[in-house]
Amino acid sequence: MQPISRRRALQLGGLGLTSIAVGTVGLTWRTLSGNTPAARQELAEPSTLTSTEGLLTVRLEAAEGPVRIADRQATALSYNASLPGPTLRLRPGDRLRVQLVNRLDTVTNLHVHGLHVSPERNGDNPFVTVEPGSTFDYDYRLPPDHPPGMFWYHPHHHGMVADQIFGGLYGAIIVDEPESEFGSIPITRERVLVISDISLNAAGNIQPPSAMARLRGREGDLVLINGQSAPTLEAKPGERERWRILNACTARYLRVRLDGQRLRLLGIDTGRLAEPRDVEEILLLPGNRADLLVTAVQETSPLLALPYARGQVMGMGGMGNEPQADSTSESSTLATLHVTGDKATPLPSVTTRTRQLDLRGKPVAARRELTLAMGMGMGGGMSFAIDGKEFAPDRVDQTVQAGTIEHWTITNTSPMDHPIHLHVWPMQVIEAGGKPIEQPTWRDVVNVPARSNVTVRILFDDFTGRSVYHCHILDHEDLGMMGVIDVRK
Ligand code: C2O
Ligand code: CU
Repeated sequence: MQPISRRRALQLGGLGLTSIAVGTVGLTWRTLSGNTPAARQELAEPSTLTSTEGLLTVRLEAAEGPVRIADRQATALSYNASLPGPTLRLRPGDRLRVQLVNRLDTVTNLHVHGLHVSPERNGDNPFVTVEPGSTFDYDYRLPPDHPPGMFWYHPHHHGMVADQIFGGLYGAIIVDEPESEFGSIPITRERVLVISDISLNAAGNIQPPSAMARLRGREGDLVLINGQSAPTLEAKPGERERWRILNACTARYLRVRLDGQRLRLLGIDTGRLAEPRDVEEILLLPGNRADLLVTAVQETSPLLALPYARGQVMGMGGMGNEPQADSTSESSTLATLHVTGDKATPLPSVTTRTRQLDLRGKPVAARRELTLAMGMGMGGGMSFAIDGKEFAPDRVDQTVQAGTIEHWTITNTSPMDHPIHLHVWPMQVIEAGGKPIEQPTWRDVVNVPARSNVTVRILFDDFTGRSVYHCHILDHEDLGMMGVIDVRK
């Protein structure tokens, strides 16, 4: 328990009245934060740790304790007492060593989401258990042709994932373009934007979700950017920024817009699109990342997250007036971009083109059908299953021949969307709802809409070993919507 400062005591003293005013809504951090214009803050970024001579060694200490959230002192989980944790900056071919120190009172471990590295031993191994009070040394080796992009790290111990990510355990990883390509995209500056959500009570402690919120996938009532609430950003007209946006929310889908400025998408999740694409809106599922060029044009624009209807737990005619599993019914302002000052000298135009691997028309070694389902379980509770089975760490659900290409059709029979994530090997999305996609994209989290399906192709190159695929609504993963894949020689 933290001693209460005088200022804090005064704030708490004022609560009596406020709580009467908010009535049944209850008193939360969000109602307390109150959006006073004076409290508007400039966007800050997590500290960055960069590899030198091909090596980055870091110590990540996961602990519960005091941390700044939305410009207040809260009690949450964090790596190295900052939320988000430090940004790790790497290049293809690098070695990343992480000493994970578990100062939590629960088990944990570490996943490097999206990195194409070995899942074995002390690599990106989701089966590792790090007990409270102990440490584990991870060692990741990026291949020399590792795709550039934004990736991230977070805990992955089955049963603990949603609580630990929602509680504040996440951080960004950036893999820069290889030396030869560096500088091919002229920009004024780069920003790392980690979006997450959290619910805190009036005392600044994490509010556990209701049973129903767990079934839907919990959404926090505070949406944060780099741990801040609605900060401001500044740019001069004509400046070009590169934004790396991560959706680290436990369940919330983000439809991101920044009207009035020019947006060009360089890539999603891993690598780059064949060429930059003009966009107005980007849908980021939990776990997705966007690599985005923002050219400042207009005076002021809010960075908005619009609501996305991701379906219901029981579907139509189910549990009567069950609330929609929406990302809230209103849109939320994540940040505000102010474009002020003299016009910047124009930068050379972006001409970059990338050759994208296309698995269409290539020989396929196996075709698989996976079915995501929600239903009534044995004990009367809901079950979340893949192919009728809940996660079992010792059962192998898919055995794959290393070095081959596979064709997976993933069908969702439930009335809710599920964002599916495969570790280590990215997926090329080639069909949605049975229709071919004209410009197939590579991602590591793919939406499987309610009562629909997607088809992906996967190249199981470079590594062997056991890993997992799962729903990235992390409550669903913890409830069992995860399977084991074993890639063998
Ligand atoms: Cu970001 Cu297996 O998860
Ligand atoms: Cu799900």
